[in-house]
Amino acid sequence: MARGLLWLGLVLLGALQAQAQDSPPELIPAPFLIKIPLQPDFQDDQFQGKWYVVGVAGNSINTEKRAQLKMYTTTYQLKDNGSYNVTSTLIRNQRCDHWIRTFVPSSLPGQFTLGNIKRYVGVQSYTVRVMTTNYNQFAMVFFKKVYKNQEYFKITLY
Ligand SMILES: *[C@@H]1O[C@H](CO)[C@@H](O)[C@H](O)[C@H]1NC(C)=O
Ligand SMILES: *[C@@H]1O[C@H](CO)[C@@H](O)[C@H](O)[C@H]1NC(C)=O
Repeated sequence: MARGLLWLGLVLLGALQAQAQDSPPELIPAPFLIKIPLQPDFQDDQFQGKWYVVGVAGNSINTEKRAQLKMYTTTYQLKDNGSYNVTSTLIRNQRCDHWIRTFVPSSLPGQFTLGNIKRYVGVQSYTVRVMTTNYNQFAMVFFKKVYKNQEYFKITLY
């Protein structure tokens, strides 16, 4: 099951990369959330810890952007109220940047919204969905945001 989903994800990543290389004038439409797999019986405590982002694909990521992207880490830490404190650490302009945000659980285990969304000017909605994971070796996470009336999505491979 997990392997099947992983395959599906990798195929999706491949398709996205192929399309991204033609740098289309318009964004590839974001898929409906209902079409995106969701890790069954998601265990938030087991998902905690540091993940290495080894692949990113999305409708705003082109070849040029990807060439600049170095592997980065994202650490998930459960807070007392059940939200994750999510910290990404990446190298940008020769500097080590930390990017901290809150993922608030939704009614579907494994799906989250962005906490404090008003702080992010222009962001109208933000959804995170853990597609598949075995909690200690790999995960695929889907992100969808509406920013200034444009729908962006990406999939990261941890
Ligand atoms: C979130 O994580 C960062 C980095 O570990 C830490 O500095 C910060 O205090 C944490 N915030 C909360 C509310 O736990
Ligand atoms: C948990 O606390 C954070 C602030 O630390 C807040 O942004 C978030 O909405 C809270 N989550 C829930 C489920 O109340």
